[in-house]
Amino acid sequence: MQNIETIKRENMNLADKIYILDTTLRDGEQTPGVALTVDEKIQIATKLNNLGVDKIEVGFPASSKGEVESAKQIKSIGLKSTLVGLARSLQRDIDAVLDSDLEYVHTFIGTSPLHRDYKLKMSKEKIIETAVEGIEYAKDHGLTVEFSAEDATRTERNFLLDVFTQAVDAGADFLDVPDTVGILTPILTRDLIKDIKSEFSVPISVHFHNDFGLATANTLTAIECGANQAHVTVNGLGERTGNCSLEEFVMVLKSAYGVDLGLDTTRLFSLSNLVGRLTGVKMPVNKPIVGDNAFAHESGIHVHGILNNASTYEPMSPEMVGHSRRIVLGKHTGANAIKSKLKEYHIDLDENQFYKVFNEIKALGDSGKCVTDDDLIAIAVTELGSARETPIVLKGLGLSSGGGVSPTATVKLEVNGVEKETASTGVGPVDAALNAISVLLQDDIGVELEEYNLEAITGGTDALAEVFVISSDLEGNKSTGRSTNQDIVMASILAVLDSINKLILIKNSNLN
Ligand code: KIV
Ligand code: ZN
Repeated sequence: MQNIETIKRENMNLADKIYILDTTLRDGEQTPGVALTVDEKIQIATKLNNLGVDKIEVGFPASSKGEVESAKQIKSIGLKSTLVGLARSLQRDIDAVLDSDLEYVHTFIGTSPLHRDYKLKMSKEKIIETAVEGIEYAKDHGLTVEFSAEDATRTERNFLLDVFTQAVDAGADFLDVPDTVGILTPILTRDLIKDIKSEFSVPISVHFHNDFGLATANTLTAIECGANQAHVTVNGLGERTGNCSLEEFVMVLKSAYGVDLGLDTTRLFSLSNLVGRLTGVKMPVNKPIVGDNAFAHESGIHVHGILNNASTYEPMSPEMVGHSRRIVLGKHTGANAIKSKLKEYHIDLDENQFYKVFNEIKALGDSGKCVTDDDLIAIAVTELGSARETPIVLKGLGLSSGGGVSPTATVKLEVNGVEKETASTGVGPVDAALNAISVLLQDDIGVELEEYNLEAITGGTDALAEVFVISSDLEGNKSTGRSTNQDIVMASILAVLDSINKLILIKNSNLN
């Protein structure tokens, strides 16, 4: 990254301190179809705080009693990040922020001709008067004030500068430049931010939407031109096509520009998963940084490079963002990928056996099939002369809850041909079923569930639950398990059994 460092030094005008204002809980919650409970907002705010973002916009308190309540509850847990409440430039909105016990208000008013004429029906003078009154009122009540000129990028430049001048005179601490409908490009951003930076000494913030897919590029450009703060959201959520994505913005700064904002970036992937799960907005597999394919490699040439030195085909390491590397098998797979997978599962083949497995995997890929690790294991083990064992098979499941009794699961397993059954309780049905499985297997294999992810729940009454788990045994072997089912408990049990069966296979092949 030496060359980019040089560009940074020579052509950029980076501010000494770059603030991150995360608005997942406000603009992100405006994603069509998304509504978060207080508890869910607390979970996300806590993770954002642990990641280390400077400011969290927790909501728009004037919009509902629930928003005031959630802001208050988030405030009460004592996070380090500064909490921000959104308000129109109206006393009653600012009062709602005060009622939420927040100390930082983000006031806004539309400034573009479209907003003035069609939404607010106010003259330019009235817009300035209203904005100023709001800022003065908030300052008089001891709040830190960030002022946004909504639709700034479609506002006449002179008028925008005029509004900002009056806002600063009224006491605004930060000026925010929203690209409300995402019409900027990097060159237009440069022109705009340079203009604003040359006029004002108060810190400049940007809030860019992603209608043309340029929110992250534009936000970075603004930062390169001296902007002091970026509004971002986890997974790029937000109105319509969303806002600048937190994970993309932070990782470009860190890995391409060498600018460390002091965030614990290893938490990004798990934060993205949490937000995806709680909002129901699942990331596409090719979403940068956090998508399933962000660190997945299939082509033989790439896998060969990756196995020798991961930097050949990765601009950053998966560990940097808490993700993991995946070697995927398919029609483009090369021998190196299959060898590395076999090694992962401790399966030793001689050259002849290996090429038979290799050709079979290629043939499966050519027939359009997505080749899973299970397929590879089954083919390799068959080649070794023994059919793939599934020593543990689910034979029955019964669930009961309610009536003041703890959720109870009765699980019947076949373990190496012998049927066993037990009932256990738990905090919920999944917990009860997994407790029953550990009781049934305690004499056969000591396993620990290291990670449990309910990865996707599609909408509708026939929604599918996808469960992904990682289990480990007493020798430290690890294996993954995955299952998709309409029933969350069933998906959980099958994923856990899948990983345990793989652990047994690994254990047995270690003994050979
Ligand atoms: O996109 C926008 O203009 C906003 C404002 C409230 C800042 O979200
Ligand atoms: Zn917005």
